[in-house]
Amino acid sequence: MPKKKVLIAGAAGRMAGLLVPQLAEKYDLSGIDLRPVTAIPSLVADLRDPEAAAAAFQGVDAVIDFANDPNFRTSWQQVLQVNIATTYGTLTAAQRAGVKRYIFVSSNHASEFYEKEPPYSLIAEGKYEGVDAATFPRITSTMPARPDSPFGIGKVASEAAARYFADQFGMSNICLRLGTAYQVKGPMPTRIREFQSLITLRDLTHLFECAIDAPSDLKFGIYYGVSNNKWRIWDTSDARAQIGFNPVDNTEDQRAAFEADQAAQRPA
Ligand SMILES: NC(=O)c1ccc[n+]([C@@H]2O[C@H](COP(=O)([O-])OP(=O)(O)OC[C@H]3O[C@@H](n4cnc5c(N)ncnc54)[C@H](O)[C@@H]3O)[C@@H](O)[C@H]2O)c1
Repeated sequence: MPKKKVLIAGAAGRMAGLLVPQLAEKYDLSGIDLRPVTAIPSLVADLRDPEAAAAAFQGVDAVIDFANDPNFRTSWQQVLQVNIATTYGTLTAAQRAGVKRYIFVSSNHASEFYEKEPPYSLIAEGKYEGVDAATFPRITSTMPARPDSPFGIGKVASEAAARYFADQFGMSNICLRLGTAYQVKGPMPTRIREFQSLITLRDLTHLFECAIDAPSDLKFGIYYGVSNNKWRIWDTSDARAQIGFNPVDNTEDQRAAFEADQAAQRPA
């Protein structure tokens, strides 16, 4: 079987830099970005201009779309002019080229204001007393979006655009609401909220593989991307059932080391 051809939109960015080495063996990767890319064959073009970007999409089986301004404090103008416009341009170029699977890299900022209320607010602060990790209701992707910022509004709008292209043009589109994925210190949380929100590079790689290889008759799905953390507040059962996402890491395994690290940093 020939390798699937996967186009990485936003290939010069940080997340692409993490994922390209992980995915390069299994898939035939290429890229597109405003900036030059050295790791994989790539086109320098603005994805807001689908014609300028068109050549990158020819013969591609799947697109992973990282191309956005990732700063969640970014302005509404930037969200409109860069984030939403880039996603729409990428979807347009993919649809015109006949690409079947489009994977939008969304974010937990699409629903982060659930964390204003208990039990999610408590869990985010590490106050677990009175909350049963086995039974509290987790946030599902079918619950209404609750963006926490213009950036979050942009992610919700882009998810809606992905749904529109699936419904209107028969594409098979998947949106991944990633948790904390920066991997600055590997699988170790850097603050308390990350005990719920972190996704390790191993689980992240698996999630993208699941999205690329998901059944071709899957029309549309929004899934949370988080490791198998004891205190995760997002429901991943739909991702497991529909695309086979089965994360293995659990931040709870890092709790003792994290607490020792915090204690060592406290002034004597
Ligand atoms: N890292 C995380 O924890 C995390 C969590 C959730 C979601 N995400 C999402 O992952 C995505 C990538 O994040 P990142 O940290 O790699 O960002 P980044 O800024 O490092 O990379 C984004 C890349 O997209 C390119 N780009 C932007 N607009 C473009 C356009 N119009 N045409 C062509 N290229 C364009 C940029 O040049 C840049 O290289 C973002 O959408 C972000 O919201 C990241």
